[in-house]
Amino acid sequence: MTAPDLRGKVVLLTGCTGDIGATYLRALTAAGADVVAADLADGAEQAEKAGADGPGSAVFTRCDITDDSDVDGAVRLAVDRFGGLDAVVNNAAVYKALGHKRPLEELTAADWDTVLRVNVRGTWQVIRAALPALRARGGGRIVNVASVVTRTGAAGFAHYVASKAAVEGLTRAAARELGRDGIGVNAVSPGLVDDEATRAINDDGYVANAAASRSLPRAMRPDDLVGAVLWLVSDASAFVSGQTVVVDGGGVFV
Ligand SMILES: NC(=O)c1ccc[n+]([C@@H]2O[C@H](COP(=O)([O-])OP(=O)(O)OC[C@H]3O[C@@H](n4cnc5c(N)ncnc54)[C@H](O)[C@@H]3O)[C@@H](O)[C@H]2O)c1
Repeated sequence: MTAPDLRGKVVLLTGCTGDIGATYLRALTAAGADVVAADLADGAEQAEKAGADGPGSAVFTRCDITDDSDVDGAVRLAVDRFGGLDAVVNNAAVYKALGHKRPLEELTAADWDTVLRVNVRGTWQVIRAALPALRARGGGRIVNVASVVTRTGAAGFAHYVASKAAVEGLTRAAARELGRDGIGVNAVSPGLVDDEATRAINDDGYVANAAASRSLPRAMRPDDLVGAVLWLVSDASAFVSGQTVVVDGGGVFV
């Protein structure tokens, strides 16, 4: 794949330690971006490796996306270290931490609060914190992460499905409000990725069925998402906003 040239772009990436986030981090630095990699878990090793491979660079900051002071600190780090901010990739979410699947009547109010607080409110908190820095550059790009479960309904995770549908709605609302500032807001909607998190919460048969049901009938890997995410971060998608780009090997059609 020929990646877009992201040299000179500064990107804030949340959720850099899971298989997908670590893949985005490597792809962004490989395309030349300078990345602030933010995560609740320790991602210093991933950032060091991505920065060492270059040609872009990376710095890790510990950040809970639901904590305004952490989020403000991540944006400040981008400005102090790299001189500004051009794009945000809102990848952090409660996914692997969902645990085993449960019928919706067995979910608790606390389960709902946790998933919606992180996946929806946290995504909004990062957008809000990034706005002054994006506006200072004359505009920018925001990429949120939804999921095809908003189309399939995926039984067993009603709170997660609802949270990702809310991310799609937030994407459209933010696109409508921020377009005048030159900020484009889109979402990427991955199909079931055969990664560590998916294996932790789904059985082998479920993962195999998802692969077989696709127009392109194979397992999906984190690398399959890279082209869409880099495109949405880059100037090549400058006139695209409010869209949800489904990347799932032709599993669902929108
Ligand atoms: N794996 C899939 O099949 C799949 C499919 C569709 C969408 N997605 C989405 O892709 C993204 C990455 O998925 P993944 O498979 O790597 O999942 P994952 O659970 O392994 O990764 C989630 C990441 O978010 C971080 N995180 C969680 N809560 C946080 C918080 N409060 N503050 C900061 N960071 C926090 C985690 O530490 C981790 O790095 C998620 O948004 C997920 O919902 C995944």
